[in-house]
This record gives sequence, C-alpha cells and structure tokens, in this order.
Amino acid sequence: MTIQWFPGHMTRAKRQIQAKLKLIDVAIELLDARVPLASRNPMIDEILPDKPRLIVLNKSDLADPRMTEEWMAYFTAQGHSCVAVDSSTGTRVGEIPVKAKALVAEKWARMAAKGMNPRAVRALIVGIPNVGKSTLINRLAGRNIAATGDRPGVTKGQQWIKVGTEMELLDTPGILWPKFEDQMVGYRLAMTGAIKEEILNVEDIAFFAIKVIASRYPDALSERFGVEEKERDLDNADEVVAIMEEIGRKRGCLVSGGRIDLEKTSGIILRDMRAGKMGRVTLETPEEAQAGEV
Ligand code: G4P
Repeated sequence: MTIQWFPGHMTRAKRQIQAKLKLIDVAIELLDARVPLASRNPMIDEILPDKPRLIVLNKSDLADPRMTEEWMAYFTAQGHSCVAVDSSTGTRVGEIPVKAKALVAEKWARMAAKGMNPRAVRALIVGIPNVGKSTLINRLAGRNIAATGDRPGVTKGQQWIKVGTEMELLDTPGILWPKFEDQMVGYRLAMTGAIKEEILNVEDIAFFAIKVIASRYPDALSERFGVEEKERDLDNADEVVAIMEEIGRKRGCLVSGGRIDLEKTSGIILRDMRAGKMGRVTLETPEEAQAGEV
C-alpha cells in the first residue's frame, strides 16, 4: 500500500488516532526490529502523550537477535514496556496481551478497590505502513480480519477483536508517517522494502545496504556472495561500489563489454537482504540513536 503523505493527511491521521485514544487503555507502537528508529513516527510522543504504551519490535525473525536485545534495553531504559515478536509465525505474540495487561495493573487495582469488575484491556495498534500492523492484528485475532482497508481518510465502523479473554483490539490500526525529512531514514526504510524503489534510486539503496552490512556483518557478504574478506575503507564510496561489482560479477550481472550491470546487482542485493538471505541484520544501533546519528 502506498500512501501519499501530504501535510493534510498527517493532520488527519493524527486526529484519527487521537479520536481512537479515548476508546483504549493501551497503545501498541509497532516498529520494525531491523530499523527501530527509522520505522518510528517523529511525533509519536506528541500523538500518544499520556497513554500507556507497549513498544512491539516486529519482524524480529529478520533482525540480529543480539541487537534486538540491545534495542529492548534501550526502550526499557526510556520507561517503555517492550517485546520483540515475529507476527508472520506468531513467535512471542502471546506476550502482547500479558504486557498490555501489566501496563494497566494499577488502574485495574484501583477499579477493583472501588468494587468494579476488571474488564479486558482495550488496545490500538499504531505504526507506519508496511511495519506489519495487519499481519499482527490477524495473528492476535487468530483469523483474517483487516482487509488493509486502513487508508487514512477511509473510515469504517470500529470493531473490537477479542484476543483471549484479557484483551480487546481495535480492528483498524492507526497509520503513522515516517520521518521523511531525514534522507537516511528513507534509505533505511527502503532497505527493508517499506519504501518503494520508484521513490529512491535502487543503486543508492543497495549502496547504503552494502555499506552497513560490510561494516557490521562482513561474514554475511562472504557467505552469501563469496565476497573476499579484507580490510576496507567503507567511507570511500569506490570501495563500497567495488563490493557491489564483485557481487555483480559473481552473479553474472554483466552488460556488453563485460561491464557490471549495477542496477540488476542492486536488485539482487536488496531482494536477498529483505528475504533474510544475508542472515539476520539490524541496520541501526542504539549507540547511533544516542549520538543523534539516526
Ligand atoms: P501494514 O499493515 O503495517 O502495512 O503491514 P502488513 O501487515 O501488510 O505487512 C507488510 C509485510 O510484512 C507483509 O509482507 C507481511 O507478511 C510482512 N510481515 C509482517 N510481519 C512480519 C514478521 O514479523 N516477519 C516477517 N518476516 N514478515 C512480516 P508481504 O505480504 O509479503 O508484503 P510485501 O512484501 O508484498 O510488501
């Protein structure tokens, strides 16, 4: 699904979520475990100011497990409840209602003290396009719910989905926009496939992908493509392009005159990365976040 995020859409999306906040106890902020910051909405604290929030790192099956631990520690240190899941198989998705309930425990205890019966925790999933909102909703519901009719501006009646006996989920997620103004955010999202390649140049996206993977996961390139392992200066663009050319040569991406077809090579690099064929990679680190680099 492609959404054109004009300022009017953003305002409308924000208002739509804020209208739903009145109905819920807990907001579930869905992020991509490979790019937890690039997949974050820049105004999220303003949009969900006082709502108990559970951060869910989705697609953790594709992310580096050690880095996912670090990101969980990072968000926990910021006072958020956090869990890493794989919505496509359901791994650890069962922890979501448990953590959501824990977030309202005090409120529920106060209600019980007043003689009120505890009820199911009401939750809303929010996140940028392609982060896995519909997949997670379907997984929590245990059946196919959202026909991804969740475009901003398209409204339909709200339905509550029962998740076991302890949680109820709004069937339509809140769709947020990413941080457009930062070009690197765009490239990171494009590396995961969240931004379509028509918007950014495929060779540029693959260039950044190779740069990050060569610096953090050099084994992945030698194992997947047989790229020679050696000392490289990755701040030198020529050296990054040389890796891409080596991959292109190994994969037979040649044009007339024996030159490397970089566009085709880039397509292979990105397809493999998105499918997890280069192993589980995380493209951002909490250290970069703390240094304000992402
Ligand atoms: P959205 O509602 O937030 O826009 O996202 P959606 O659920 O449609 O998921 C986007 C893509 O991400 C889907 O791939 C979905 O299968 C995949 N996905 C969601 N959660 C996970 C996860 O935990 N792990 C993995 N590996 N993939 C996940 P798709 O249908 O193939 O879409 P596309 O690749 O054709 O864009």
